[in-house]
Formats: sequence, C-alpha cells, structure tokens
Amino acid sequence: MRAVVMNGTGGRAMLDYVERPEPVAGPDEALVEIAFAGVNFMDIGVRQGMAWTDIPSPKILGVEGVGRVLNVGAGVEGIEPSQRVAWVYAPGSYAERIAIPAASLVPVPDAIDDRVAAAAMMQGLTASHFATDFYPVQPGDVAFVHAAAGGLGLLLTQIIKLRGGHVIGRVSSQEKVAAAREAGVDHVIVDTEGRFAEETLRLTKGEGVHVVYDGSGPTTFQGSLDVLRRSGTFCWYGPVLGGPGPLDIMSLPKSIKIGYAVFFDHIPTPGLLRARSAQLFDWIAERKLKVLIGGEYRLGDAVTAHADMESRKSTGKLVLIP
Ligand SMILES: NC(=O)c1ccc[n+]([C@@H]2O[C@H](COP(=O)([O-])OP(=O)(O)OC[C@H]3O[C@@H](n4cnc5c(N)ncnc54)[C@H](OP(=O)(O)O)[C@@H]3O)[C@@H](O)[C@H]2O)c1
Repeated sequence: MRAVVMNGTGGRAMLDYVERPEPVAGPDEALVEIAFAGVNFMDIGVRQGMAWTDIPSPKILGVEGVGRVLNVGAGVEGIEPSQRVAWVYAPGSYAERIAIPAASLVPVPDAIDDRVAAAAMMQGLTASHFATDFYPVQPGDVAFVHAAAGGLGLLLTQIIKLRGGHVIGRVSSQEKVAAAREAGVDHVIVDTEGRFAEETLRLTKGEGVHVVYDGSGPTTFQGSLDVLRRSGTFCWYGPVLGGPGPLDIMSLPKSIKIGYAVFFDHIPTPGLLRARSAQLFDWIAERKLKVLIGGEYRLGDAVTAHADMESRKSTGKLVLIP
C-alpha cells in the first residue's frame, strides 16, 4: 500500500510518499481502508521530533482518520467488516490502510459524511474537553480563543456559544476574520504581536475574561495572563508551538488557575471515547456544530498540507485523501 513516512526528524523534506507492506489485523485489531486522514499540528510536532521518538524511522505519520473495516482479528467484538469507523489517536494514519486496536474505533452514523467525521475527531474532542471538562463554560461567561479560525478554534468557539458563552477571538490575518465570525466569534481581533490584551480589557470594561484558551506559543502567553479576570482560568494546550518556559507560581496574578489541557484526558476509556464522539456527531447532525474543511489534499501531497498549516495560511481542518 502507499503511505507517507518520515525518514528522520526535521523539516518537510523528511516526508516521503512510498510503498509499504500491507498491514494485517492482529488480535483485538481491525484492518481499515482509510477514506480520509486528518492533518494535525501534532503531526508537525512528530515530524520535528517532539513526540514518538521511541518509534524508529521510517515511520508512517498521522493519528486520525475515517474509513471502512475490511476485517477484524481474533477477539474483536462490536466492530464488524464493512462498518464505517473513525479514530483520533492511532499512529500510522497517513496511509491507504491501517491495522488499529478495535477499542480505538468509534462507529460513524449514516448522517455524518466521511470527511466531516475525519475532521471532527481530534479537534472536536479537544474542543469538547476544553469547554465542557477542563473549564465548563457557563452562560454569560466571556472566553478568549486564540487561532480562532483554525480547525480547533472554530469548533471551540461553537461549543462555547452552544453553552451560552461569549467569544473574543484572535486571528493572525484579515483573511481569517470571516471564518471566525461565521463560527460565532462575537469580537475578532487581528494580531500576531501579542498586543490583543489591551483591546480585550477595553471590550470587557477592564474586568477581563473568565477563561483564555491558548496554544499559540510564547508570543501570546503574557497577553493571555493579562486578559484574565480575578479567579479566571488559563487553559494552555499548545506543545508544538512552544511553551512559556519555567513558571514561578508566585508570579501568577489574580488567583488565576492555570493548566495544560490534553484531549486524551477527555476520552481515557473506550466508553468515554464512544460517548463523547457520539455527542459530537449528534451536534453535527443537528446542525449545532459546523465543521469547516479548509483543504483536501491527495495523500501524496501531505507535504503541501504541512506547508499550508505551518505558514498560517489555513483555516479550518485539512484532510488527506488516500
Ligand atoms: N493539548 C491537546 O490536547 C491538543 C490537541 C490538539 C491540538 N493541540 C494543539 O493545538 C494547536 C492547534 O493545533 P491543531 O492541529 O488543532 O490545528 P489548528 O487549530 O488548525 O491550528 C492552526 C492554527 O495555528 C495557528 N498557527 C499556525 N502557525 C503558527 C505559528 N507559527 N505561530 C502561532 N500560531 C500559529 C494559526 O492561527 P493564527 O494564524 O490565526 O494564529 C492556525 O489557524 C497546536 O499547538 C497543537 O499542538 C493540543
């Protein structure tokens, strides 16, 4: 089968579109024909050597996708051949086929299109974690969302709005404003220099926001602290774009709460993975949540998808078609 592998860690030149041996479903696994694979910032982090360093190169990139089950290994229950399934964390997803633990799969309802299911898993479950679990947004809360026109930012904004919150969103360019507005951002700030705090404090009459969601790297960290109100919550989540470095806990202002939110803590068991994915699919089927596909690329063009994401040109979710 064809797959995108990384031959070592580093830039996009490390990626190669090659022939790989056919995967076989072992015990408790299913063999899946992949229809769409999701592109995540995490894949760029893996390519740069920030994760999975224990798996030797060349290795197949990608963790997310949707497809149809071809066959299952011994011991698999509840997943059957020809069933449509999706997954959020299975290394080896930039490929035509994957052998994957059956416990990592969720059924995809008929009402949900393949590309939408692939696009919704990682960013949708992450957004759901941030707005319902890490900081359960309450009606009337004001939230600040960074990269509000990205795949994660658009879904996070919509879930905050579903819960009755208001959203101030930051994007890096004027071209992204319309997508952010369409998702429901109440006030969009265009900024790349970390100067968004002043405008946010003006908008909130000096009080600041209840919660800030920041995965945008060191440039935004101080501003994100500054926009919080007393006892506000800082949801930090972006390992790939870099962290603030060591923090002196006594330097943190206004009794704020701060933490590193990780999507996996939202779906630690197969039962929770299924329940929370089902909730996402329900919201999508009921048109409460809209998934914006920002780009579709052939599997062999994964390099271009990475380039578009890294250059901050993309809005919404990027997917690969094997
Ligand atoms: N903790 C978790 O569980 C978890 C889960 C999923 C993702 N993440 C993290 O969330 C972030 C977004 O990942 P994603 O896969 O969901 O993609 P995404 O939301 O589609 O992110 C793309 C956005 O990132 C911003 N961006 C791109 N390059 C940047 C740069 N060099 N500096 C600052 N901002 C940049 C861009 O927004 P602007 O140009 O508008 O700023 C772009 O819209 C990543 O840091 C990823 O590691 C964390």
